[in-house]
Amino acid sequence: GLALRLALRGDLLDFTGAPEWGATESPVVRFRPDHWLLIEGGRIVGAQAEAPDSSWPRHDHSGQLILPGFIDTHVHSPQLDVIASYGTELLDWLDTYTFPAEQRYAEPAEAEAGAARFLDALLAHGTTSAVVFPTVHKASTEALFAAAQARGMRLITGKVLMDRNAPDGLRDDVTQAERDCVDLIDRWHGTGRLSYAVTVRFAPTSTPAQLAMAGALCRADESLYMHTHLAENRAEVQWVRELFPEARSYLDVYARAGLLHRRSVLAHGIWLDDEDRALLCRCGAQIAHSPSSNLFLGSGLFGWRAAERAGVHVSMATDVGGGTSLCQLCSLQDAYKVQALAGERLTAWKGLHAATLGAAESLLLADEIGSLEPGRMADVCVWDWASGPVARRRLSVARDLHEKVFAWMTLGDERNLVATYVAGLRVPV
Ligand code: GUN
Ligand code: ZN
Repeated sequence: GLALRLALRGDLLDFTGAPEWGATESPVVRFRPDHWLLIEGGRIVGAQAEAPDSSWPRHDHSGQLILPGFIDTHVHSPQLDVIASYGTELLDWLDTYTFPAEQRYAEPAEAEAGAARFLDALLAHGTTSAVVFPTVHKASTEALFAAAQARGMRLITGKVLMDRNAPDGLRDDVTQAERDCVDLIDRWHGTGRLSYAVTVRFAPTSTPAQLAMAGALCRADESLYMHTHLAENRAEVQWVRELFPEARSYLDVYARAGLLHRRSVLAHGIWLDDEDRALLCRCGAQIAHSPSSNLFLGSGLFGWRAAERAGVHVSMATDVGGGTSLCQLCSLQDAYKVQALAGERLTAWKGLHAATLGAAESLLLADEIGSLEPGRMADVCVWDWASGPVARRRLSVARDLHEKVFAWMTLGDERNLVATYVAGLRVPV
């Protein structure tokens, strides 16, 4: 019926393909200023310059920017409680801040409240889809799935697997973990907009037996995602070398366990070599690049250009609470600076693509999310071009589209967010 229709007016920006590295002019950038985005039954059905007929309910966002909702391919729901924690690198940070916060999620009421808080915060930062680490606890994973379902969000998550080198209350064992995974997959994988990810925390916190179990789950159902951390920090890499002396590299630990495939999402991937990159390309796995976290935890500078040259999928992630903002604009600001340090330049097109259509394609979800193409779910965000007089002035003197969008990306954050729509419904932000 007509109630399921909505027309949004604004400056529409999305991508029809992958921009080339370094190109500030690109044929795959689709900018349609002052257009109407037509939504029916939760999906995008078209876009046009003319106002639709009066049967269409309208939200007029003219003078504002309308983008596909951002996709965050690596973020931790329980870690909002430890965002911006002082003074440690990865392994100390886990022990000092992160594990204690995750222990509190053993209490289902705590996990439930945390899941709701987390998803509402994602939506309030312009992110409508995410690949999420909850905790080791089955009930906390259930709570996150249920909260995403209640909000109609596209979400990928799964119980965290960790059966060693973790404190009490955060370890599972192979048998119980397998049972929990099977139950959760039966209940949630493919339910509405939800998918399950076999979620290995990282190589040091799983025994070889648990890694093998995780690999067997992946082999049994190729529609499952796999989500983990990879080669983030030098001390971590050295620890993996000691724990798995038979492996050629950190990545090889996952390869041997059967964890690398087209739906594998590996966060960070900073300390890799050419052989690792070639393997990632062959299996079609993606790196969830998390520059905010990599800078904050002093982990290192990701070589995006080398990954690109090797044909590896790269998507954008916040990695909160290692990262210091849930807003993907902040991730992109850090990504630009990391590339600048390497003498490379990240265009706004390349960056925004990696947080929208590029992430969707890497996740094999481009028929559902990541663009404003007819048929896609209407997960869209409306942004102010500028927030405050400095940004307003800077954007007003921009000479071309890339300059304007780059200044928006670089000066903006969640304070620019005007509205978030999930499946065509405006959500409170
Ligand atoms: N490696 C293993 N666990 C974590 C985590 O929670 N955050 C980050 N950034 N790296 C990890
Ligand atoms: Zn992480």
